[in-house]
Amino acid sequence: MSNLEGRVAVVTGGAAGLGAAMGNAFAAAGAAVAVLDIAGDAAQATATAIAEEHGVATTSLRVDVADPVALAAAADHVVATLGGCDVLAANVGVQQFGAIDRLTDDDWRFVLDVNVLGTIRTVRAFLPLIRNRTGYRRILLTSSLSALAPAVRMAAYQTTKFAVMGFGETLRYELAGEGIGVSVLFPGGMVTGHLQSSSDARPSVLAATGAQDDDLVEMLAHRPVGADDVLAPGDAIRNLLADLDADHPFIVTHGPVRDAYGERHEELIAAFDRAGAS
Ligand SMILES: NC(=O)c1ccc[n+]([C@@H]2O[C@H](COP(=O)([O-])OP(=O)(O)OC[C@H]3O[C@@H](n4cnc5c(N)ncnc54)[C@H](O)[C@@H]3O)[C@@H](O)[C@H]2O)c1
Repeated sequence: MSNLEGRVAVVTGGAAGLGAAMGNAFAAAGAAVAVLDIAGDAAQATATAIAEEHGVATTSLRVDVADPVALAAAADHVVATLGGCDVLAANVGVQQFGAIDRLTDDDWRFVLDVNVLGTIRTVRAFLPLIRNRTGYRRILLTSSLSALAPAVRMAAYQTTKFAVMGFGETLRYELAGEGIGVSVLFPGGMVTGHLQSSSDARPSVLAATGAQDDDLVEMLAHRPVGADDVLAPGDAIRNLLADLDADHPFIVTHGPVRDAYGERHEELIAAFDRAGAS
């Protein structure tokens, strides 16, 4: 029997893309699924589709993870509809391209509020529910491969995904004694509507972005991505349930930057060695 059988999984950003693929994977393994997303109608459609395909209970709610009040209400909603939470996938992230000298304060505010504070607030809202349960419990945080091998024109996004990684590692240490596993997910490139959903989710009160049309071109020139490096989200998370079962701290889905990460790692080890020699 799967560890997820009879459990309740909550997925933020669950209406589409990677989050929807996670919801489907959790449901296929027997979990009830709560689909939370700023796109409320799409969340409802995804929750209905998951229920029909997998025969599990689902619920959905429109939630902006930048809004702590909405997240507290979402936790109450999940308890009322599905009875609690065993597995949390804090998966929301918005993209923000831009050269460092052109990114505006509002660009930084947007991406820090959603990707960093949104992830932290999501965990804070659902951790009490997870602590109320026993047995198989997991928290999965979506970072990005670009946190392991940064590229130009991605400073704002990458800063937030570094923060998600650091938060997740600390959370793992703090929860280790309670038997709650914490994993940080590093997806590679996927075929999703990420750029559009990021643009849709940007609050209209914010000033115009400093992103430019050539940002993506420059980023790809720095970190080339081949056609084989971009997967459908369901294929990207083909090993996710096994990795969660094994309680691995880091989960890489796919992608071309293993060597680039290795070079960065070697630079850091060399820095330690220089310090040790001085
Ligand atoms: N697509 C990629 O190539 C890629 C690569 C690495 C990491 N990621 C990360 O994967 C995660 C999922 O992205 P995706 O590619 O599936 O994109 P997606 O657009 O398919 O899904 C993102 C979902 O998040 C929702 N969302 C956006 N802002 C929100 C908010 N403030 N509150 C609640 N929901 C919100 C959107 O409505 C959308 O349904 C993100 O954290 C992203 O940074 C994506």
